[in-house]
Amino acid sequence: MPESDCTVQGGNVPVFTPPPLPSEDKRWKIVNGTMRKNGFARHALIETLHTVQSSFGYLDDDSIRFVAQSLRVPLSQAYGVATFYHYFTLKPPGKHTLTICAGTACYIKGADKLIAAAEKRLGIAQGQTTKDGEISLMMARCVGACSRAPVALCDGEVVGEMTREQMLEQLERWTVE
Ligand code: FES
Repeated sequence: MPESDCTVQGGNVPVFTPPPLPSEDKRWKIVNGTMRKNGFARHALIETLHTVQSSFGYLDDDSIRFVAQSLRVPLSQAYGVATFYHYFTLKPPGKHTLTICAGTACYIKGADKLIAAAEKRLGIAQGQTTKDGEISLMMARCVGACSRAPVALCDGEVVGEMTREQMLEQLERWTVE
C-alpha cells in the first residue's frame, strides 16, 4: 500500500500519513527509508538524524523540521538532539558532497577501497570537508541500490558500479571547477 494512503485503525482512527519528501533529491528517499524501517516511530529520531547527516553532510532547518514532522516529535526535541550531540553539525558541508555507500553489498564489492582512495585523494577522513570548503566526504549505510554495488552519490546523484578511476575523475572535475 502506498505510504500516503490513509487507512483506519480500530475502525475509525485515521493512521498518520507522513509528509511528502522535501524535494526530488534521492537522498530524501534514504532518509525516508530509515524512518519507514522504524515504522515512523519516535524512537527513530537519532537514527534518522544520523541518516540525514551522513547523506547531506549536515542538518539544516528544513531537514530537522521534516524529520520532526515525519516522526511526530516536537521540533524543539529534534533541535535538542541535533544540537546536543557533537556528531551532528548544523553547518553546511562543502560545495560538493561525495557519499560512498558502506552497506554490506557495497562493502563486499570494494566500498572500503573507494573510501580509502577518496580519503587519500582529498586528504580528509570520512565525515570531513576539505579545507577550501569544496568537497565533503560522507558515508551511507545502504542507499537501496545494492544490485549496482558499489554505489556512491555524487551531489545526491546515485552512481552504480563506481570504480576507483571514475570516482577520482569526479573528484578531479569538482576540484578544477
Ligand atoms: S549496500 Fe550499498 S546500496 Fe545497498
